[in-house]
Amino acid sequence: MKLRGVVRPPGDKSISHRALLFGALARGTSEVTGILAGEDVKSTARVLRQLGADISPVREGAVVRVKASHVTRPTSQLYCGNSGTTARLLMGILAGQRFPARLTGDASLRRRPMRRVTEPLRAMGAHIDEKAGDALPLVIRGGKLHSLEYQSPVASAQVKSALLLAALTGNVGLTLTEPHRSRDHTERLFIHFGLDLRERNGAIVFTPPERPARLPPLSLAVPGDASSAAFLVVAALLANGGELLIENVGVNPTRTGFLVVLERMGAHVERLNLRDAAGEPVADLVVRPATRLSATQVTAAEIPTLVDEVPILAVLASRVAGGGETVFYDVGELRVKESDRLELVAANLRAVGVEAEARGDNLHVRGTARPPRGHVETARDHRLAMAFAVLGTLPGADVRLSEKRSVAISYPEFFKDLKKVGAG
Ligand code: S3P
Repeated sequence: MKLRGVVRPPGDKSISHRALLFGALARGTSEVTGILAGEDVKSTARVLRQLGADISPVREGAVVRVKASHVTRPTSQLYCGNSGTTARLLMGILAGQRFPARLTGDASLRRRPMRRVTEPLRAMGAHIDEKAGDALPLVIRGGKLHSLEYQSPVASAQVKSALLLAALTGNVGLTLTEPHRSRDHTERLFIHFGLDLRERNGAIVFTPPERPARLPPLSLAVPGDASSAAFLVVAALLANGGELLIENVGVNPTRTGFLVVLERMGAHVERLNLRDAAGEPVADLVVRPATRLSATQVTAAEIPTLVDEVPILAVLASRVAGGGETVFYDVGELRVKESDRLELVAANLRAVGVEAEARGDNLHVRGTARPPRGHVETARDHRLAMAFAVLGTLPGADVRLSEKRSVAISYPEFFKDLKKVGAG
């Protein structure tokens, strides 16, 4: 199979959420282009509308306008769908408000831990009532916030961003450390707005302005999503001919750990036309088939820079030459994503004839030359569906997915794009 042509991944999911959230906090009308029209971003738009923001329809290719007033009390519960980013970042904004709001989500989101955010928010002064222990639904009643020094036990951009948004809306200081640096889109937006955010001795330090910040309207072009591009990159590496140009990809170093790992495995991805989009680096990627892939060890410090790429990297690791074993260290966080990705990546690889195992918090994958054949249970997790669809493009493969619709969460046109470049 040959892959060739030019493709543009959809807008970055993390930045799309943040563009809407910051737009809803800014004065006047913000304009966002290149936004991801995926289900998760639509969830953020929907709940922000319930909180009084006027947001034009989130559609592929549309300029989305966000007209903000102040955040107002919702008249019904805030349903965050499948989106952890929506729920957790929203809690940050609601922490300093003077009204109650009930947050919930779909069955997958209701299984995901929330205390990682509610505990530090409580320490800042927010009142939060749990309805189901360490999970949604919960009622956040807000409160008068005070400054916080916090050592996060998890490297999580969602935790970090929720606390930064609480500090911003509550106009209080925040000093935060995390075990390893997670994606920094929120910090870049703070700096873009001219807010006082610095790094001091490995900590992120936000000093609030003397009077509560009045953010100017935002004008933002969302770069293409590196995490979505990763599926196309691996499809092109596994092809036996052709060349793929993937345009307009965000290459923020806190997101492109997968490119570093690919390099170690013997696969070089070229970056062209490096440029800047509102404080985020963007480039075009050129990918050619890998000649020989070797196994690697992915360290705990690297994981936050590729946390959403572990499924597709594991798929690639199953194709390394000579039966080499790749190990992803300390990927326990994968258990609390949209599905238990740690167990499901391993189980699904086994289901298609690959030796793979979760040992404690590490994931082991052994390379094979045998064509993958079998049934894959995606558990409606978009990244599992896309990773195993890419495995199914190999010659002789017969990979049957339990469903494909979940790709609408982050990459609605995924199967169309795969077909367009010759792999569908
Ligand atoms: C995200 C952070 C990551 C990532 C998720 C999006 C964000 O989650 O997995 O897809 O936009 O902040 P964690 O912060 O829980 O690691």
